[in-house]
Amino acid sequence: MAKEKVLVTSALPYANGNIHLGHLSGAYLPADIYVRYKRLNGDDILYICGSDEHGVPITITADKEKVTPKEVIDRFHNANKSAFEKFGMSFDIYSRTSLPIHHETAQSFFKSFYDQGILVEKKTMQFYDEKVKMFLPDRYVEGTCPRCGNEEARSDECEKCGSLYDPSELKNPKSKISGETPVLKETSHYFFPLGKYQDRLKKYIDEMNEKYGWKDNVLNYCRGWFNDGLKDRAITRDLDWGVKVPLDGVDNKVLYVWFEAVLGYISATKELSHQRSEPDLWKEYWQGKDTKYIAFIGKDNVVFHTIIFPAILMAWNDANKDKFILPQNVPANEFLNFEGKKFSKSRGWGIDLDEFLQLFPADLLRYTLAANLPENKDTDFFWKEFQSRTNGELADILGNFVNRTFTFAHKHFDGKVPERNKLQKIDEEMLDYLKSQPQKIADLIERFKIKDAVFEMMNLARAGNKYFNDSEPWVTSKRNKEQCATTINICLNTIYTLGVIFEPVIPNTSVKILKMLNARPTEWSKSGNSILHQGQKINEAEILFTKIEDKVIEEQINKLEPMADKPIESIEEITIDEFKRLKLKVAKIIAAENVKKSDKLLKLQIDLGSEQRQLVAGIAKSYKPEELIGKKVLIVANLKAAKLFGIESQGMILAVDTPEEGKVKIIEIDEAIELGKTAK
Ligand code: MF3
Ligand code: ZN
Repeated sequence: MAKEKVLVTSALPYANGNIHLGHLSGAYLPADIYVRYKRLNGDDILYICGSDEHGVPITITADKEKVTPKEVIDRFHNANKSAFEKFGMSFDIYSRTSLPIHHETAQSFFKSFYDQGILVEKKTMQFYDEKVKMFLPDRYVEGTCPRCGNEEARSDECEKCGSLYDPSELKNPKSKISGETPVLKETSHYFFPLGKYQDRLKKYIDEMNEKYGWKDNVLNYCRGWFNDGLKDRAITRDLDWGVKVPLDGVDNKVLYVWFEAVLGYISATKELSHQRSEPDLWKEYWQGKDTKYIAFIGKDNVVFHTIIFPAILMAWNDANKDKFILPQNVPANEFLNFEGKKFSKSRGWGIDLDEFLQLFPADLLRYTLAANLPENKDTDFFWKEFQSRTNGELADILGNFVNRTFTFAHKHFDGKVPERNKLQKIDEEMLDYLKSQPQKIADLIERFKIKDAVFEMMNLARAGNKYFNDSEPWVTSKRNKEQCATTINICLNTIYTLGVIFEPVIPNTSVKILKMLNARPTEWSKSGNSILHQGQKINEAEILFTKIEDKVIEEQINKLEPMADKPIESIEEITIDEFKRLKLKVAKIIAAENVKKSDKLLKLQIDLGSEQRQLVAGIAKSYKPEELIGKKVLIVANLKAAKLFGIESQGMILAVDTPEEGKVKIIEIDEAIELGKTAK
């Protein structure tokens, strides 16, 4: 295959917290595996990352700690950079957006747009916190929604009922920074006319998807945004920490962090050019005709990379001679949870990368995370799974295969690669498989199916063990030394292939394996071609993986216990007759409306087949009335009628709690089941 020139980026992490396992699974490990594979494939890669060092959370951390924002970003930039290194991330550069080169780059984009006259200046009223003397970004204002009464609405939008409103309509606004009531103050901002790019963006995404196959989850997010219609976006903010708006007479305004952060990929590449004293390097990639650009991110970053960043690049390209390439693919992952719940620093749930690497070698973590990437749905990190993948797969399959082959080669063949003699069917089959596997894995990685690729890597080690068993070298060593030599030759060559193809996932182990074999890596496509030659001396076997004992894992699990809010329920028993007194019946919701003055209750009309009833259910925080109509549900049909807010309720609808506080999910019944049937 022709060699490709590829620019790869991973989302720039905020320098406001430590990298945890969730980040790794989203945007970093898959990218690193892709990059390492591409390098082995002989492709020409630049892999760019760095810290995102602006944004309000950094200012807030600094204020809280009574230090400067610079101190905060220096601390986290250095900590994250070194944790990433320990984890084996193979960035060509880990830059930072506080560098002057970044400020200049971002400003030149803003300036180009300003000069083109595409930015719209608009006056707006914004909440201002007089105590901390700052304009409050939307998510730092909380109040009561003027439409539905939700008490956790943002300054101009309610996530619950989906309405948008003017900030002056929000009731009981509170600053989340000081807790004070903020005032509305006039300010003006520059808006990027995103709406004008909608058609071009749509076309771009359709085209890329057609040619390169974008992931469904990513396309779905884009569709949602297009359906809502893209709106003008303010790209300036009233803050002092950030990239200054480069206009005379405009003080105290900075560029919106997302506007400049995505440009951080470009400025980081410029910084790399500078470090390597190749001033035009960045242009070769960002403006090269045959470069492809892949942006790895987590799902919360999709809109910024498939819509905002491409629109920024389009707007630049419209007016400048040097044209940038757009992302060819944005393989966003879903989230990794930790033991069944979201990672949360404040609740102490999860584990930071650095902490983890003090306990276990990086390759173990890389393998478990890679084998369980949230490519299509959220997945979890479980300590027990980590233990079982380490012990049962890395140690028992890969480690064991390497170890038994080496032991055998030292004992029977004087530590040399024995000759390959006449091949039996079993040998030919193994060699065919060995030859085909690198290509199969390559195809998967090229399509960003990294989890499946990792499975196929381990399958080669599985096949190696099976081949070793079925060939019974311990028998042939006595009766048919030539056949035995062939077996061990093929096993050693399989180990060689494993040493190469596992490199992207467990690079440290790969180095060890190749060192043990006294061999160097080949190009990926040749790695299955039985590279080791007869008579080549091999080294002593090293232990590749140490099994993790139960007590080590239990210790980690126990550390979590105090944080897990899972009291053991004591359940009072009832008899079957008591249960039978309950009449649970299937009903259909045929009408629903909000109950006035209550933000919890909905008034429902239900159909039981033979009769219709009215009931009042405490599910308004979980459902909008229109979402409920037509749903088949279970109700307690013989519950004594009661009045709620003056409205009669004849029964109760069954629902279960969800992890989200105050929210429930009603138990839905299969469409095929008849109304009025009794559940038992
Ligand atoms: N800092 C952002 C986050 O962690 C990601 C920024 S990606 C960039 O979610 F492209 F904007 F830099
Ligand atoms: Zn609302």
